[in-house]
Amino acid sequence: MEFTFDDVPVSGHDGECLMSALMRSGHLHLRDAPEDGGARGAFCCMGLCQECVVRIDGTVVESCRYAVAQGLAVTSLRQKS
Ligand code: FES
Repeated sequence: MEFTFDDVPVSGHDGECLMSALMRSGHLHLRDAPEDGGARGAFCCMGLCQECVVRIDGTVVESCRYAVAQGLAVTSLRQKS
């Protein structure tokens, strides 16, 4: 399945979570820490920490709890690239 992350094409497997597909393709920096702007990404991998959040259709979701789907447009919560 093909989707985009900040307009970059990414592929994932049917049933795979977004976090896994993003990590496999080298996208580890998903958002910035509000306190100091540090890079944040997946930590607990089971829906507890919210370090892995991304935006889909204007909604912030935990990428470790959201399944890959064909054509998704996923954006990071980074302030800079
Ligand atoms: S990695 Fe902790 S909620 Fe997703």
